[in-house]
Amino acid sequence: MRTRTQVGIIGAGPAGLLLQHMLARHGVDSVLVENRSREYCEKRQRAGVLEHGTVELLKEIGLGDRMMREGLLHSGIYLQFAGERHHLDFPSLTGGRTLTVYAQTEVVKDAIAAGHPIFFEVSDTAVRDIDTERPVLSFTDADGVAHEVECDAIAGCDGFHGVSRPSMPSLRVSERTYPFGWLGILATVPPSTDELIYAHSPHGFAMHSMRSPEVSRLYIQVDPDEKIDDWSDARIWEQLQIRLGHPGWTLNEGPITEKGITPMRSFVAEPMRSGRLFLAGDAAHIVPPTGAKGLNLAVADVKVLADALVRLLVEGKSDLADAYSETCLTRVWRSTWFSWYMTSMLHRFPVSSFSDPAEADFQEHLQIAQLRQVTSSEAAARNLAENYAGWPLP
Ligand code: FAD
Ligand code: DHB
Repeated sequence: MRTRTQVGIIGAGPAGLLLQHMLARHGVDSVLVENRSREYCEKRQRAGVLEHGTVELLKEIGLGDRMMREGLLHSGIYLQFAGERHHLDFPSLTGGRTLTVYAQTEVVKDAIAAGHPIFFEVSDTAVRDIDTERPVLSFTDADGVAHEVECDAIAGCDGFHGVSRPSMPSLRVSERTYPFGWLGILATVPPSTDELIYAHSPHGFAMHSMRSPEVSRLYIQVDPDEKIDDWSDARIWEQLQIRLGHPGWTLNEGPITEKGITPMRSFVAEPMRSGRLFLAGDAAHIVPPTGAKGLNLAVADVKVLADALVRLLVEGKSDLADAYSETCLTRVWRSTWFSWYMTSMLHRFPVSSFSDPAEADFQEHLQIAQLRQVTSSEAAARNLAENYAGWPLP
């Protein structure tokens, strides 16, 4: 079946869904294809922290109502190390910026509920003719019908393992793989903390986040090749207790309803555009989760892309589209730096990741020195807070 739309979008993650919604508000029509089911997209547990700018954007585009009712407003984070726990107060350090805990699953549900055209459970997604003004998005729908959609532009929002990035003719890739992963759980137990806790410990990094007044989200650093089946609930809680433990404070335990392991890497592909194919979100870049940047970066990309495509397709001007990659990459590299900084400061690097064991000791001392600086110097704390709370959207 041959059809036509203005923008073909691949991927129903936050990037693709929010792009579709922003375009629709400007009268630009689109078709979005997703290879998973709607239920899977709405349940896949991932990010939880929304920057101030992301929250403002969701409100502005009419997707903020439930977030404003159910999202948890936070004014900072705790950093914990060497038996100390320090609070960083973001509003006073950043001139009023806060963060909101509202799960990525909920952002996805709200965007899908907006009711724009989405094909779930597609297969054989492919793009061609991207160097012409009529690129084609092809796929087979859930009923087995083959589609060819002629577009003015295609947005590759299909995450790290999608088909868009491999369709770009030439890319420069910068990459770092970290020698650890994160084991994340959802537990039915009220959060034991008022703010997120990031803990550096001799047993490895741990973090306490939350999803609601009844549900906690917690993470521990593990070896990247660990198998989730080797982690019983009792073993996970034991490690969380050891790593997050603090005098006078209790970590409450409850039933674990979900657990999974994620590897950690930094990855940036440049440029983010080739002809009429534009990459956005994890399709173009990955950051380790320690700085809570991935989702927010995906939102920033599609804000820039929506403006560029409206300008191109409604006003007939290509200036913003031509600048798209460069505009996004400034923020991408800033987030990549911040995510590397948080990751390097907070995780325990295995001795095997150094050529000389004395270097592991050196690294550990540098980490503590840096954490002391961040928790005692207002300038250092402000730098962390400004980057964590995020920069205004373009
Ligand atoms: P995705 O969410 O990956 O969406 C891509 C979509 O494309 C998927 O639905 C996929 O099924 C679909 N797709 C793939 N291939 C095809 C194809 N061939 N055809 C059709 N569809 C296809 N970020 C934060 O900002 N804050 C956090 O607190 C945070 N915590 C995280 C914790 C964890 C454990 C993890 C794993 C990530 C975390 N992130 C966080 C990162 C964040 O989740 C991602 O950056 C975000 O999902 C990127 O959105 P996206 O839309 O670009 O990609
Ligand atoms: C969450 C995830 C993160 O990567 C982070 O840095 C903070 C919170 C979360 O899932 O809540």
